[in-house]
Amino acid sequence: MRVASSAAELVARVRAEAVAEVDTKSSETDVVTAGDKAAERLVRDELARLRPGEVVLGEEAGASGEPGPGAVCWVVDPIDGTVNYLYGFPWFAVSVAAQVDGVSVAGAVVEPVSGRRWSAVRGQGATLDGAPLHVSAARRLELSLVATGFGYRAERRARQAAAVAKLLPEVRDIRRAGAASLDLCAVAAGWVDGYCEHGLNRWDWAAGALIAEEAGAVVRLPSADAPLGPDAVFVAAPGIADQLHETLLRCGFGEI
Ligand code: IPD
Ligand code: CA
Ligand code: CA
Repeated sequence: MRVASSAAELVARVRAEAVAEVDTKSSETDVVTAGDKAAERLVRDELARLRPGEVVLGEEAGASGEPGPGAVCWVVDPIDGTVNYLYGFPWFAVSVAAQVDGVSVAGAVVEPVSGRRWSAVRGQGATLDGAPLHVSAARRLELSLVATGFGYRAERRARQAAAVAKLLPEVRDIRRAGAASLDLCAVAAGWVDGYCEHGLNRWDWAAGALIAEEAGAVVRLPSADAPLGPDAVFVAAPGIADQLHETLLRCGFGEI
């Protein structure tokens, strides 16, 4: 939390200059700013000081090594929601998680604009600014608000859009706010009832999925034999989880 908060403070402070220095990654719409790079450098420097010798996996600089069995690996998204950062749309965050053997044991998500601090420790619950988080009590899918997101490649987006078009008449409404870590936190807070997205990377969900799980959500992480596909993250309030999962399959989310 301390490291994520320092990075969030940096991200906010340098935004005006940082968004003028933009590179692209997997496609022309997949951007990285000087703010992403500076925030990851700060996180790596701080972790090297506070947790010397532990492996860091970060979106911008990759893995610093291979964690041994039972060792901590820090999983970092220096800015989740970079497109929002670029435009000044205030839904972006720094996400830092500690994983052991690929399982998140602690996570912090800090929002530079609002200052909101989300966190969880496995087995000890999730909090927003120190207050305990609980998922919604939703029970009916047709009255549920469902968040999702889209990848950066046009072919996949076309398939994602077709599936979302089928889902829309089955739910209260859809949200695509642009930061996976915060979408997961939103499930934890009951701000949405469920969330599903394909093609995320480990740093997108490592902290947020634990926060959702500790707030009581049903969480299904990427796995080779998942019905929704090997790279799907599915998170929902328990009262709608089965209905939402079945409906997503029926709408074609298993084939995107
Ligand atoms: C992206 C955001 C977005 C999601 C994309 C992610 P980035 O992360 O979380 O909401 O739809 O799949 O890649 O690129 O802003 O770190
Ligand atoms: Ca991300
Ligand atoms: Ca990022």
